[in-house]
Amino acid sequence: MPSTIPLSKISEFIPPPSRIPRGLTTEMKGGCKSFSRGSTPCEKVGGFINQEVAIRGWVYNFRSSGSICFLQIRDGSGFTQAIAAKNVVSEKVWQDCEKITLETSVEIIGTVSKHPKREEYELQVKDLSIIQLAEEFPIGKKEHGPDFLLDQRHLWLRVPSQWAIQRVRNTVINATYDYFRQQGFIKIDSPILTPTSCEATTELFEMKYFDLGKAYLSQSGQLYLEAAIFAHGKVFDFGPVFRAEKSKTRRHLTEFWMMDAEMAFYHHEDNMRLQEELVTYIVAQVLERNLNELKILERDIEPLKKIVSPFYRLTHASAVKKLRELGSDIKEDDDLGGDDETLLTQQYDKPIFIEKYPAKVKAFYMKRDPKNPEVVLNNDLLAPEGFGEIIGGSEREDDYQTLLARMKEFNLPVEPFQWYLDLRRYGSVPHSGFGFGLERIVGWLCGIHHVRETIPFPRTISRLTP
Ligand code: 4AD
Ligand code: MG
Repeated sequence: MPSTIPLSKISEFIPPPSRIPRGLTTEMKGGCKSFSRGSTPCEKVGGFINQEVAIRGWVYNFRSSGSICFLQIRDGSGFTQAIAAKNVVSEKVWQDCEKITLETSVEIIGTVSKHPKREEYELQVKDLSIIQLAEEFPIGKKEHGPDFLLDQRHLWLRVPSQWAIQRVRNTVINATYDYFRQQGFIKIDSPILTPTSCEATTELFEMKYFDLGKAYLSQSGQLYLEAAIFAHGKVFDFGPVFRAEKSKTRRHLTEFWMMDAEMAFYHHEDNMRLQEELVTYIVAQVLERNLNELKILERDIEPLKKIVSPFYRLTHASAVKKLRELGSDIKEDDDLGGDDETLLTQQYDKPIFIEKYPAKVKAFYMKRDPKNPEVVLNNDLLAPEGFGEIIGGSEREDDYQTLLARMKEFNLPVEPFQWYLDLRRYGSVPHSGFGFGLERIVGWLCGIHHVRETIPFPRTISRLTP
């Protein structure tokens, strides 16, 4: 067993209340009594130059010269360096410093000073206590393969790059909620257990559902949002969706987070305008809030600064033509494959709307173009720099008989969709909507090749753990 300082002793190192910065303390009510005095988040220590603070966190790196020990501390909010000098700290603290291993949890009391050259702050250690001396951490500084890291996902989440990705993800989530609130949308929580498909029936996770036959895990909340617009006008949902897709690509997960939006009285053009506004808002928020994270990820932010309206627009037909010129063997009636998306988006510095796909390659609910019924009033939105599809959306078929005929063409059973058809019987209106894949957007913004790194615990056809 590694030896640790008993928690009861930690309070000895906490400065008297008068020296604890007010307003920045985290109270631990109940739980461990030793922490009742509070601590300062690493990201805020810069506000306490020459003052004494307590920080709590994990040692993610360290080195010692024999008389000075440098400890890199991470506490969730950020990172800071603590410097312990043998001739300043007590013998006990020095012994503990020498014992420290990677990922040991610690509490440190020290005085804040500014790095002489950089906008960085350090803590001159006065006292240090080990909360738990970590066993040998499996993730080291050497290169690890993706499978090893994914097996260690519960630990890998701690490293700075993974910390940064989740922080960007958090900004994308908050920006989405902010944007929709500003635009007067209502959040509607769509169900996860459903009696029907929404997208391709070949990609459904199915299960036995008591005496009611089969249930499926939702592929998108869209159909339920369509019901909600008749009550609320403009709505969105945001939650996990599931695709039993056999695709083993860098863009596919079996469980991912989707935001669906649906708007009454919106036509195809209005739909695309909203998508463009939402995406530019999200990018601006990430640039405003996450420069440090993007730096850790070594993401070149110049391309992100160019993400402003208007985005590029191509019809499916002209995208196919362009792709063929670029060497793809895509046919006129094909959906774009992953390689096509990469090839096409490498040519552009801003997102590209690809609109009006052949009706036969897209979902049953999409409205046909009155000017050319061979195509639908839909769009995909592809992110530049080779990233590819981040959004899929369309105007919806709003006529009962036409929708019924489309469902029959797609061999869909009418009975479980009757409620959805009903929406075209009671005050049907033109309406449109779209859905984005959170992991695809985060992958693009962070410059991450494979979407599995953008979700805390990825699920793919070959991974269900941890
Ligand atoms: O294009 P999709 O399939 O569209 C829908 O599901 C519509 N019902 C949405 C709507 O209109 N409300 O999926 C939407 C987005 C894609 O553009 C992509 O970003 C993401 O979801 N996506 C995936 N992300 C990760 N792994 C997968 N297997 C994904 N499939 C789709
Ligand atoms: Mg799609």
